[in-house]
Amino acid sequence: MLTLRNVSKTYGNSSVKAVDGLSLEIGGGQIVGFIGPNGAGKTTTIKMITGILNPDEGAIEIDGHDIVKNPLEAKKSFGYVPDSPDMFLRLKGMEYLNFMGDMYRVDVSVRKERIASLAETFEMTGSLNAKLQSYSHGMRQKIIIMGVLLNQPSVWILDEPMTGLDPRAAFTLKEMMRAHAKAGNTVFFSTHILEVAEKLCDRVAIINKGKIIFDGELDELKARHDQISLEEIFMEVTDGE
Ligand SMILES: Nc1ncnc2c1ncn2[C@@H]1O[C@H](COP(=O)(O)OP(=O)(O)OP(=O)(O)O)[C@@H](O)[C@H]1O
Ligand SMILES: [Mg+2]
Repeated sequence: MLTLRNVSKTYGNSSVKAVDGLSLEIGGGQIVGFIGPNGAGKTTTIKMITGILNPDEGAIEIDGHDIVKNPLEAKKSFGYVPDSPDMFLRLKGMEYLNFMGDMYRVDVSVRKERIASLAETFEMTGSLNAKLQSYSHGMRQKIIIMGVLLNQPSVWILDEPMTGLDPRAAFTLKEMMRAHAKAGNTVFFSTHILEVAEKLCDRVAIINKGKIIFDGELDELKARHDQISLEEIFMEVTDGE
């Protein structure tokens, strides 16, 4: 469960709001795609949900915990894949996963099994003893995703998670996202790949210039637009006024 109420954010002394009065409510069992042009405010929104940035106005709750007032409890409830996987580069893959396991207090025996299984799933077994620095972009993306999944959080927040993943890893991740939502959990992810949003999501939220311009079921969106593709709808609704 993820709730945003009237959330706004302005960077520095900019005269425009990067996110402007944004409200969203995503219940368990839902997989929601967050789409919009470059600079629309997706990453800013996601950074506020995850507590990296504080909103200027509004409130955000994850599984009932306010991210500003109760950050530790809120942070236990979600896993976050950032838009750039270039961090902790000096750690080896296994060290990074153990670090994440420690942070989220994943029992050591459980952790071992999960790491082995995730490494196999993402074809990373042979790479866990190398430093993240030596990983390709996609491998870094994979290790971050594995670190998130290690804790099995109920809410998944992913900022362009498919970027750089090879087709097999992207397929696996999509299947996992679908299964996670089907099991009653919440998945919220941004993407520029509209076919992914179209295939994976029941619901999409379209953001443009910091404001939600559509939030609802894909079928509803298509019905409104004479059943044209999401790509065509996107071009139409995000067209500069
Ligand atoms: N650190 C920052 N300092 C100042 N302005 C910022 C900063 N980060 C983002 N912005 C501005 O906020 C607005 C929203 O940016 P944001 O990164 O949220 O967009 P986005 O939808 O994630 O775009 P993309 O699709 O390119 O990832 C843009 O106008 C951007 O210039
Ligand atoms: Mg972004």
